[in-house]
Parts: sequence; structure tokens; C-alpha cells
Amino acid sequence: METELLRTDSELNTNAAIRRAVALLSSGDIVALPTETVYGLCADALDPVAVAKIFAAKERPAFDPLIVHLPRRETMHEVATIPPDIAKTVGRLIEQFWPGPLTLILPKKPVVPDIVTAGLPTVAVRHCEHPIFHRIIKQFGRPIAAPSANLFGRLSPTSAAAVLDQLDGRIPAVVDGGACGRGLESTIVRILPGTPKPIIEVLRPGPLGLDELKPYGKVVFVERNAEVEGSTPEAPGMLARHYAPATRLRLLLRPEDFVAEEGKTYGLLSYRGQEKDGFIDLHPWTQVAILSPGSGKIAEAGTRFFHVLRQLDLVGVDEIIAEPVPERSVGRAIMEKLRKAAAS
Ligand code: TXA
Ligand code: MG
Repeated sequence: METELLRTDSELNTNAAIRRAVALLSSGDIVALPTETVYGLCADALDPVAVAKIFAAKERPAFDPLIVHLPRRETMHEVATIPPDIAKTVGRLIEQFWPGPLTLILPKKPVVPDIVTAGLPTVAVRHCEHPIFHRIIKQFGRPIAAPSANLFGRLSPTSAAAVLDQLDGRIPAVVDGGACGRGLESTIVRILPGTPKPIIEVLRPGPLGLDELKPYGKVVFVERNAEVEGSTPEAPGMLARHYAPATRLRLLLRPEDFVAEEGKTYGLLSYRGQEKDGFIDLHPWTQVAILSPGSGKIAEAGTRFFHVLRQLDLVGVDEIIAEPVPERSVGRAIMEKLRKAAAS
């Protein structure tokens, strides 16, 4: 199959790209679309045959459920039920963060096919902010199931080129909406009733961190690692190895732990590119890629993370050495991804 690259570099091209994407979705096919977090591989969420094409293209195991993206906030009530004891918190979170990078886990309605939720009684819902995605889903008018548009377990794509790296020839089309503004997958939460405050369980850390969520409840980060627990994963994005570049990656917590092997080439994934962090001068790196070259801020590192890691992956060194980043705000999501990328 030839994968079409649908450009959005003029109003004319954008309109044509949107028409084509809507036509693909309407005919039960799949298409990769930009969102504000990462590119998603999209299909009609209520059509199990269309959704099966996502699993096939990504080589995604059937036990890993998909996120359902809503054309309008209110569509939430068509696919999910809101338990009365958490309704107030759900309402406040949605009011504050939708459209945006927040995914809620809620009890599912029967209309959602089992293939979408991997047989779970719950469904993950999100209302996405990206202007092109928004126009497409509004015209399509139905919920869209979309995981990140990469092969299972590999780097998430934050550009159309990154989608093509992995899915060229496997999907009919990708809409090129430029670089994703957030650059990291949505924060996934489950709300539980609690006194004096409701509990916000973070199943996957993402762009919305502790500071953003804590006004709405007691925030608990849930470490789920299906391979370690040896059980059916409730949040299977939490498999031990995930987000992996093709190149072997090692997370080096302390610079003094680095020993270069004879004849091997190394690339450094640096947080700020600053000598004082102790990594830059450790070794004559074949390539140094810097997550936050500007202000040294963690948000910049989050936005650039997958993009920079992909660039470094393309250099073709024997091993990528990753510096740790501070585990605050989106730094928690970056560190989770680095740990998983390094797991083998
Ligand atoms: O930002 C994002 O969330 C992107 C864009 C495309 O929206 N999507 C994304 O999808 O990251 P994906 O498939 O790569 O990750 C979705 C994760 C799954 O791996 C799973 O862990 C979790 O969402 N998930 C989905 N349904 C769930 C459910 N019912 N209960 C618990 N976790 C669920
Ligand atoms: Mg993914």
C-alpha cells in the first residue's frame, strides 16, 4: 500500500486533507492524524472492523485498549457513564482541561466495541485540542479510537515524518499537521471517591502534572507494570519495555557509572547540554542531542522529547546514553519513558 502524505501548508491543501481524512474514516479505514500530544492512528471508534485495522497496522496486542476521542464534550455521555459519586470531580476536570491532554477512565457503555477497550468494563476518553484534528472529528461527527501512530512498543511520533518512519506502506494516509505542541501522550487518570477529597489516580504521567491536578483531589501516581506483576494489565501502556528507539538506550543516573566499551560508538541524550551536569565531558560522544537547549526548562524537554530521541536514533550509534531529568511536572513522564525505553 502506498501511504499518502496529506499536506496542510495552504488553506486549499488543508481543506483537501480534511476531506480525504473524513472520507477514509467514513469508509471504515484508518488514517494518522496530528493531535496536540502525539500523532494518533485513527478509526471510527464504534466500528470494530475499522478498529481492527489499527491493531493490525501497529502490530498492537489485543489486550492493549485504545483511547476514544470525542467530537464534542457531550459525546462522553454516549460512550461512558459517569458514576454519581465522582460526577462533580469529572465535571471540574473537564471544565478545566478539555479540550486538552487529559484522558479519563470511566465505565463504558455497550455501544463501545470490546476490541476498543480490550474487553475492559471501562473506556478511556479524551477531547483533543489540535485544530486540524478538531476539524476532522467535527466533520466526521463520531468518536475516533486512536492510539499513538507508531509500531507497538516503539517511539511515539510527534511529526508526520516520524509516523512514516514506522508506518509507511502500512496505512493509507497521514495528515501532516507539523510538530505536536505538547509532544508527550496525554495524562491518563481515574477518579475515585474519597473523603475529604476525591482521589485522582494517575495511570500514565503526561503533560498535566501534580501541580495542575492537585486542586481537584488527592493525586496518587500508580506504578503499573504488567510484566512484573504477571497479571492482565489494567493499564497496559504500562508494560515494562515501551517507547523504545531502534538503538539500545541506557539511562545513566550518575555520570560516574559510565564506562565506554572499546570500539563502541555512543550518543548522549542530554537534558540541558550543560557541562556542570557532568555528562557532556565524560566521553567524545559521536552525537549530543539536547532536550532543552533554550531555557533549560522541563516543559521544553517534554515537547522536544520524542523528536530529539528520534533524531539521535537516526544517527546510528551503538548505544544512546540518556541523562536523567528532574522528576517534577512533565519530568515524571519523561523519566517514565526513559526507564521503559531502557528496559530490556
Ligand atoms: O495523547 C494521547 O493519549 C495519544 C493521542 C493519540 O490521543 N494516544 C495514546 O494512545 O497515547 P496509546 O494507545 O499509545 O496509549 C493509550 C493507553 C493504553 O496503552 C492504555 O494503557 C490506556 O491508554 N488505556 C486505554 N483504555 C484504558 C482503560 N479502559 N483502562 C486503563 N487504561 C486504558
Ligand atoms: Mg502509545
